[in-house]
Amino acid sequence: MNGSRKLYVKSFGCQMNVYDSQRMADTLAPKGYDETASIEDADLVILNTCHIREKAAEKVYSELGRVRRLKEAAAAEGRRLVVAVAGCVAQAEGAEIIRRSPAVDLVFGPQSYHRLPDLLARAERGGKAVDTEFPIDAKFDHLAVPSIAATRARGVAAYVTVQEGCDKFCTFCVVPYTRGAEMSRPVSKIVAEVERLAGAGVREVTLIGQNVNAYHGEGPDGRTWSLARLLEHVAQLSGIERLRYTTSHPCDMNDDLIAAHRDLPKVMPQLHLPVQSGSDRVLAAMNRRHTRADYLATVDRLREVCPDLALTSDFIVGFPGETEDDFAATLSLVDEVGYSGAFSFKYSPRPGTPGADMKQVEERIKSNRLARLQQAIDENQAAFNRRCLGRTLDVLFERPGRHRGQLVGRSPYLQPVQVEAPASFIGEIAEVSITEIASNSMFGVLARAPARQPAFLGAGA
Ligand code: 5AD
Ligand code: SF4
Repeated sequence: MNGSRKLYVKSFGCQMNVYDSQRMADTLAPKGYDETASIEDADLVILNTCHIREKAAEKVYSELGRVRRLKEAAAAEGRRLVVAVAGCVAQAEGAEIIRRSPAVDLVFGPQSYHRLPDLLARAERGGKAVDTEFPIDAKFDHLAVPSIAATRARGVAAYVTVQEGCDKFCTFCVVPYTRGAEMSRPVSKIVAEVERLAGAGVREVTLIGQNVNAYHGEGPDGRTWSLARLLEHVAQLSGIERLRYTTSHPCDMNDDLIAAHRDLPKVMPQLHLPVQSGSDRVLAAMNRRHTRADYLATVDRLREVCPDLALTSDFIVGFPGETEDDFAATLSLVDEVGYSGAFSFKYSPRPGTPGADMKQVEERIKSNRLARLQQAIDENQAAFNRRCLGRTLDVLFERPGRHRGQLVGRSPYLQPVQVEAPASFIGEIAEVSITEIASNSMFGVLARAPARQPAFLGAGA
């Protein structure tokens, strides 16, 4: 097609959207689109949106206001700026987006991005296009392969989608509606993708899915493989030194996956295991399918095999019916588990989900509970980080740091660590002594030069 045109993709929300945005860029690269980091230069703007909370969806409309002005400015210069809305807001609201924001040319859901070139051709001819079907053909079969250069530019830690959609139907959540039924990619496709990433210098892979530990993909032996089996297989691929997976549901944290944290040194001692609430009454109303005691028992089993496991969670405050006692149970759970960090949100009623029809908690109460919960989480996080002070941790260096001569890397627990180190260390794992803890990152000094080996075996906290 025509020479170089500029593509600007902005991702909102979860890691899956980041991954999908990269796949859109890969799909458009052979059609002559180069990615730009500056929206002002773009010929095509794609907003890859999130619908999980009202605030996330509203951000898209405010961003569209800015894009409309850019489109008008481009038109005044005789240029056409094509505007596309992708992702979960697109899936949920479809053509409504074009009615509300006429600057939008294209709307397509999370299952349609491989059809982007066709949709774009229509938009370039001046038409508007909306594609929010859940097609029968799996989008993963049509993935474009990015160039080595594009993969390198994305860094040494990469996401790979292994599973998409969710069958759990928590009563607050839109995911089962926007992303559809649970679907797992076959092992062979995942392996091919990880091997290609490793060949381009990737050292750490995070397997992602909305309910990743429900993974049940077809193995090379024709049988159904679990996530634990998949991790074991991927851990053997050369070049990959570290593995993580997210997001997990407590009910799918089965024995073989727990054992993977003991048996596979490449699986990092870190796990995002959202609990949402510490109250059994609220957990039942949320249709979480487990109790507080079930969750704590799972945490105990994990810590038995991996004593220094860094646990993170998501919490929702002010779900319909949540009393002060229920909320107190959430606060006490936070301290009982001892998290290395967590995300917390005020409940946001989502149209079409059961929670939206229940009697709502007052906004004032939600705000008050959120502040108290965030304080408890901050204290947990500070305590976890303090325990790292003086320890030597393996750090995978990812990119240049804030100051000249500094690099930023990640500890096994996913904490960012700033270290004075040469740029050639990017992509290497080195032992770092932690010397200082700040609110959002840690500082350290090199204790030993990089060694290309799966060095971290879990030292115990
Ligand atoms: N309101 C508030 N938070 C929500 N989440 C999901 N749906 C809602 C909602 N309706 C949070 C949950 C989930 C995280 C990704 O977003 O905590 O784990
Ligand atoms: Fe949403 Fe996660 Fe519940 Fe699925 S398990 S419905 S993605 S919160």
